[in-house]
Amino acid sequence: MTILVTGGAGFIGSNFVLDWVAETGEAVVNLDKLTYAGNVANLSSLEGNPLHIFVRADIGDTETVAKLLRKYNVRALVNFAAESHVDRSIHGPAEFIQTNVVGTFRLLDEARAYWVELSEEKKRDFRFLHVSTDEVYGSLKPLDPAFKESNPYEPNSPYSASKAASDHLVRAWHHTYGLPVLTTNCSNNYGPYHFPEKLIPLCILNAIAGKPLPIYGDGQQVRDWLYVKDHCAAIRRVLEAGEVGQTYNVGGWNEKANLDVVHAICAILDELRPRGDGKPYSEQVTFVTDRPGHDRRYAIDASKLERELGWKPAETFETGIRRTVSWYLENSGWVATVTSGEYRKWLDTNYGSR
Ligand code: NAD
Ligand code: DAU
Repeated sequence: MTILVTGGAGFIGSNFVLDWVAETGEAVVNLDKLTYAGNVANLSSLEGNPLHIFVRADIGDTETVAKLLRKYNVRALVNFAAESHVDRSIHGPAEFIQTNVVGTFRLLDEARAYWVELSEEKKRDFRFLHVSTDEVYGSLKPLDPAFKESNPYEPNSPYSASKAASDHLVRAWHHTYGLPVLTTNCSNNYGPYHFPEKLIPLCILNAIAGKPLPIYGDGQQVRDWLYVKDHCAAIRRVLEAGEVGQTYNVGGWNEKANLDVVHAICAILDELRPRGDGKPYSEQVTFVTDRPGHDRRYAIDASKLERELGWKPAETFETGIRRTVSWYLENSGWVATVTSGEYRKWLDTNYGSR
């Protein structure tokens, strides 16, 4: 049997592919367009491994998707492919609509065309798992209860609006055509292979490079943080046992203000790689202009996933963030491959005028 993963050269997708091969021994076809966020170096440990088949293509390339589904007799499709960065969606939303909305539509429709041709038994067992975000639920007030699966969708950024649209398409393909879908809505991930445009890897790398640690607004925005390997385990569990047509919230029960996250990183670096001048890294914290429309708080209630499928995170924030900081310190080669030309241009675009 084989699964098809899209976006498997990105941050979460590559962690998923690595863990999938190690944990299940089942072949995985990995379709990725290799945008700035995709990096085959994340998968270098799978080089020559027949269980990993990499194909460079767009999820909207219907011909290639149709061919791969049939050639590899795919039993499940896990869709990670997306434009994923809120700040980039503010600077240039078009690509987000193209990949997250139009691309997901094309992928869904090719999956449906393949699925209707399957035998009754294979049709029953087929799954389309769509990986989504907690941002579709909008922003919480300080004392609001955490997001449940029944919360209304209130997306606020071009990114979250495009993800919300894709979730609705997935839902409709199930209700209208019967495609066996599953959707997961997860909170902020962190861990190895995280592209350093996002808060945690950006701050680790800026800190050791002696650069400012840019905090948007007052730094009191709250996110729930989940170690990426826990997210991958949740997806495997939902794929294995989730009820068709259901959505599952995935989270770490780790609500933290951004400023506290950055201080935690600084404290670990003070211990593992002290600054040459003996001063704390927290001195590099710099408050900058806020993100337009910045959501104040996200929090995930992941109790349905624990109650129904028995999943809960293995890492606490304290253990996960220590592993993550250590990984970046030990993987300077990987860091060098992702912080070249395009990355520098992005830093200018996003931080140049803040
Ligand atoms: P990422 O930006 O690191 O990776 C995205 C991957 O998709 C890249 O490899 C990229 O090349 C590929 N891709 C982009 N457009 C494509 C297209 N048109 N066709 C084929 N491949 C394409 O993203 P990530 O952080 O790994 O997120 C993966 C998924 O999980 C996304 O759908 C995102 O919305 C969702 N998600 C992310 C987080 C998080 O904290 N990072 C949390 C919840 C949900
Ligand atoms: O909640 C899940 C979402 O988490 C995913 O769907 C997205 O794909 C993922 O990118 C992430 O979105 P965020 O916008 O929360 O992640 P980011 O790392 O960009 O920002 C985290 C918080 O830190 C957010 O409140 C903005 C703030 N921030 C971010 C950057 C890059 C800063 O204060 N300074 C920064 O330089």
